[in-house]
Amino acid sequence: MANLSDYTQINIENFFSMEGELPFSVYIRLSEGKYTKIFKPGDKIDRTRFESYHEKGVEALYIHKDERREYIAATERLVKKIANNDNITGDDAKRAIEELTEQTIFEIYEDKVFDEHSVRRASEVVNKYIDLMKKDIRSLVGFISMSRKESYMCRHSIATSVFGILLARADKQSNEKVLTIIGLSGLLHDIGMSQLPEGIDDLDRKLTEDEWKLIRKHPEISAKMALETKGFPTEVGAVLRQHHENWDGSGYPAGIKREEIFYPARVISIADSFSALTTRRGGRALYAPQDALALMETESGKYDPKLLKIFRGLLIPDKKSNSAA
Ligand SMILES: [Fe+2]
Ligand SMILES: [Fe+2]
Repeated sequence: MANLSDYTQINIENFFSMEGELPFSVYIRLSEGKYTKIFKPGDKIDRTRFESYHEKGVEALYIHKDERREYIAATERLVKKIANNDNITGDDAKRAIEELTEQTIFEIYEDKVFDEHSVRRASEVVNKYIDLMKKDIRSLVGFISMSRKESYMCRHSIATSVFGILLARADKQSNEKVLTIIGLSGLLHDIGMSQLPEGIDDLDRKLTEDEWKLIRKHPEISAKMALETKGFPTEVGAVLRQHHENWDGSGYPAGIKREEIFYPARVISIADSFSALTTRRGGRALYAPQDALALMETESGKYDPKLLKIFRGLLIPDKKSNSAA
């Protein structure tokens, strides 16, 4: 089974827009566990060759995990090049942004690598989310369900980031810096979970008291990892520490309440809970959006009431009282 983790599957379409020389090798899968190299570093990227594989029915190619960094760097260059403001809503641009997000999150949670490059790339993604929010909100919403990766953390992080940005916008928050803090916190809020023992957050069994104690440490671990990382905005560190604090003071780690909790953390708390309830995970039954919201409203002491109301309006627009906005 070693091969499964040695090679990372890449949707073949992600290579179509790359240009120049390949900085990594590309493999094709022959059969279960058997891969063969079809391009090597330095080969000129030729879209027609990738397309001809695609026409023959090849949907995915592979990279070796030792070269993931080079692959991610190439994806980052692609996002910079094609996802500028004018064509950010194009399919190639959206695909590149999606891929950069997934690879960045996957590296943090699966490879357990988190450093200044992760922060820079996550910031790049959030800038694009905010651009999309202004230009084409449907495309931004599309990212919530777009994720193809089988990683819960990947889907959960993207959804938390996008719901957070949407909620802040619905709250008439137009300060770019605040929006960036919220988006980035959404993507990275659970990084501390990557440091806990594998499978500890398994939902299919009852957790022991000790396991709960450990899980409740993840906000502080997240914040510590953040603040030890070069280039990490300190405000985002504060959100990571506070994302499980509750409006009524029943949260953790500090038990602070109401406006003592940083505004972006109150936004992320709602986005995080909603995302956790509605994001596909293993074989667990999911909550439909209305049911997730209803459940959150039964525990409404946990959330900033004004924000929760705005969130309801975002999910279930009330036609009668919808005057201007
Ligand atoms: Fe969390
Ligand atoms: Fe979370």
